[in-house]
Amino acid sequence: MTPDLMEEGALRIARHEGIDIEGMTESGGREAGFGRHVTEGEVDVTHGRILYLEDVSVSFDGFKAINKLSLDIAPGELRCIIGPNGAGKTTMMDIITGKTRPDSGTVFFGSTIDLLRHREADIAQLGIGRKFQKPTVFEQLTVFENLELALKTNKGVKHSMLFKLDSEQSDRLAEVLETIHLRDSVARMAGNLSHGQKQWLEIGMLLMQDPKLLLLDEPVAGMTDEETARTAELFLTLKGKHSLMVVEHDMSFIRTISEIVTVLCDGSVLAQGTLDEVQSDERVIEVYLGR
Ligand SMILES: Nc1ncnc2c1ncn2[C@@H]1O[C@H](COP(=O)(O)OP(=O)(O)O)[C@@H](O)[C@H]1O
Ligand SMILES: [Mg+2]
Repeated sequence: MTPDLMEEGALRIARHEGIDIEGMTESGGREAGFGRHVTEGEVDVTHGRILYLEDVSVSFDGFKAINKLSLDIAPGELRCIIGPNGAGKTTMMDIITGKTRPDSGTVFFGSTIDLLRHREADIAQLGIGRKFQKPTVFEQLTVFENLELALKTNKGVKHSMLFKLDSEQSDRLAEVLETIHLRDSVARMAGNLSHGQKQWLEIGMLLMQDPKLLLLDEPVAGMTDEETARTAELFLTLKGKHSLMVVEHDMSFIRTISEIVTVLCDGSVLAQGTLDEVQSDERVIEVYLGR
């Protein structure tokens, strides 16, 4: 790990958000931050990073899908990732979630959790939730049952049958229903929901676990304009409480939600900045946006 790089990232975010960075540039402020106590089992974000990738590479049959990729995300940030098909966006998420092992590089969750030392199931438990492109809700169960089920992890069938929500979990479920706009559909079969509602339900299932970081792969693909607008609203309410990494091709959606946009191409970062900045970057226009 290189704390300097991480600090540079923190300063970049602060500048972008218009936060006063004076104190952060002085050693006094930095030491105060680095010396903060972190409780065991919590993600240490005192370096200003919730996710940190450095020089990550992976090849499939000699083809470099990810090529010396370095990227970091601040706590509470909503980061948008764009780039042409085959750029390595999904593979990057596979690496973060432990589905794919990189050949080399560093992947940290906070500054103390080395994700390359954890298995996929452990990584989900650590607080990284992932939404795949296709909705994967249980169609034969109600909205309520789907959300309830999201709390029953790895405890075995017997435990699941005896499972009852405690009051804290019931409160969470009510709150999640509100957040994903499905309160009025709580008793409906998930199979009868619209495509957009299924996507929100699946996001709700992730939220039941209260993840610190959410990875969302093309969440508005196939949605109507109205559903897309609602999803933008939803993500903006999640920002701050959670950190989000959103891969999308829908530029008007990106425009609504984005702060910093990272452009991936050929397995590494081609450009990064506001949407206006990356959209006017000649290299980005060349490989992705077209003329
Ligand atoms: N498991 C795999 N085996 C072989 N090739 C793969 C595998 N996963 C991804 N790739 C290849 O890696 C490249 C990046 O794919 P992907 O991460 O899915 O791109 P994106 O999500 O940006 O469209 C593609 O050329 C894809 O064919
Ligand atoms: Mg993909």
